[in-house]
Amino acid sequence: MTCFSSADESAHYGFSVCLLLEQYRAQLRWGEEGIVELGTGDATAIADVVANLPELRVASFDISEASVLQARANIAAKGVADRYAVELGDFFDRADSTGGTAVSTVISNPPYIPAPDRDILMPELWGGVHGNDLVLQLFKAGYENVVTAVASYSDPVATVRTAGDLGYRVANFLAMALDYGRYSSEPKVQAHIRQMCAEGRAWAADDGYMVAVALFTRNPDVPGDRADQLLRSLQFCP
Ligand SMILES: C[S@@+](CC[C@H](N)C(=O)[O-])C[C@H]1O[C@@H](n2cnc3c(N)ncnc32)[C@H](O)[C@@H]1O
Repeated sequence: MTCFSSADESAHYGFSVCLLLEQYRAQLRWGEEGIVELGTGDATAIADVVANLPELRVASFDISEASVLQARANIAAKGVADRYAVELGDFFDRADSTGGTAVSTVISNPPYIPAPDRDILMPELWGGVHGNDLVLQLFKAGYENVVTAVASYSDPVATVRTAGDLGYRVANFLAMALDYGRYSSEPKVQAHIRQMCAEGRAWAADDGYMVAVALFTRNPDVPGDRADQLLRSLQFCP
């Protein structure tokens, strides 16, 4: 059993979540409600965010036992175990059954590896055939605010259009080019990404791709819609 490890990707996720939470603090109401997270990984990125934002409480879920064990150790070492709780289990089974007050914001760097099947280096990172199954499931789960990573090789046009159809607007985002990591470099995954590029479902180059961490919201107090700018920022081509 392994734990997800990709330092650049996790750092971009953590930094972006921190900035978006700070910028939209009043509208997201996270100081009063807390937030939930799909996919803890080793927790280092969000443990830093929790340490930086003293009013933040996070309830996080991961299906990987190795990740949960590593995450709990890292969270304890960071001194934020009282505000960053991690449970083993499927987010979609567990997040609604934890009781307490309703939470309107979910954050995630979700599994987004596209592949024909789950037989990849870390099966927990499989995002379905087009890579966006879990993010689409998150949009359908009914949260008011979804802060999520969107990768340029995981059918981002379908992701953003589906979010729009479900009533979400893109409030803001932070985009960054990333090198392929160990999971997306796997030959089977690379071949699938090339095929998706040829089908117009992905943007990627031989040496990397784009990821944006975006705030999708249904909150009328958050103005504007940057969906088109988000898609333009993901157009990373050879
Ligand atoms: C791309 S990693 C991100 C980890 C961490 N948030 C980070 O950015 O470093 C995605 C994580 O989601 C977990 N995961 C996959 N499906 C899940 C599900 N249905 N519920 C909860 N966690 C899940 C995986 O085990 C993996 O640790």
